[in-house]
Amino acid sequence: MRGVTVNRLAVVTGAARGIGFSISEKLINSGWSVAGCDVLEDDLNKKAEQLGDHFSAWVLDITDEDAVNETAGRIEKELGPVFGLVNNAGITRDGLIMRMKKTDWDAVLNVNLTGAFLMCRAFSRGMLRQKAGSIVNISSIVALLGVAGQANYASTKAGLIGLTRALCREFAARNIRVNAIAPGFIETEMTSELSDEVREDYSSRVPLKRMGLPGNVADAVHFLLDDVSAYITGVVLPVDGGLTT
Ligand SMILES: NC(=O)c1ccc[n+]([C@@H]2O[C@H](COP(=O)([O-])OP(=O)(O)OC[C@H]3O[C@@H](n4cnc5c(N)ncnc54)[C@H](O)[C@@H]3O)[C@@H](O)[C@H]2O)c1
Repeated sequence: MRGVTVNRLAVVTGAARGIGFSISEKLINSGWSVAGCDVLEDDLNKKAEQLGDHFSAWVLDITDEDAVNETAGRIEKELGPVFGLVNNAGITRDGLIMRMKKTDWDAVLNVNLTGAFLMCRAFSRGMLRQKAGSIVNISSIVALLGVAGQANYASTKAGLIGLTRALCREFAARNIRVNAIAPGFIETEMTSELSDEVREDYSSRVPLKRMGLPGNVADAVHFLLDDVSAYITGVVLPVDGGLTT
């Protein structure tokens, strides 16, 4: 544990399961406190019991502008200054574009991109005041490679890279870093619906010949939040077993 980051506070969206839970666990084990936000109240409360006193559960729909602003104010008032923000919450509504309903397009854009924008806007106010902070946006290799049937999802994940680079320039003078991570195929609920055949096909195309684990993404998030990466901002870090090289 590095003394400099002990009990720093990070907000993690989509913390109730999968990669968001793993990020929360990693940060807490590394001396951070975490305010975990999610729409899944029961799952979030169960995770809070598991993670102990350094985790607080915040039921929040990140697409709700008023709720995001109100929750940001309450977190800062009740827990203190926020140094880390991890925009991890994300959804898929896959389908070929000819059959994609506008509601499926809008739903994915609202959560994956607008939600991240609302969270960045709400939490950067405090970071700008304290002249310190680190934001990590969870993009995807789908933004870099494109995948048939994921036009909505790929657009949001590419949008997050644009958001990352714009905010990197907007915030750098105030000592706030903004980076993105592009995970490859990671074993979570999101990918558990894939058939064994598809999973084997994916794994065979990865140079490391296996799918990633949520902990692999969590380790990269911790690196980008921590002061060890103090001179790194505006990057997109693939965590993909070499797939995009
Ligand atoms: N699993 C993968 O292979 C993979 C690959 C690349 C990128 N990603 C990205 O990583 C992130 C996490 O993925 P995961 O596999 O853990 O997914 P997941 O579906 O297991 O978890 C996503 C979490 O986000 C929450 N969420 C959804 N909508 C929300 C909203 N409006 N407000 C607050 N919370 C909301 C969900 O309730 C859930 O707990 C996503 O952004 C995903 O796109 C995942």
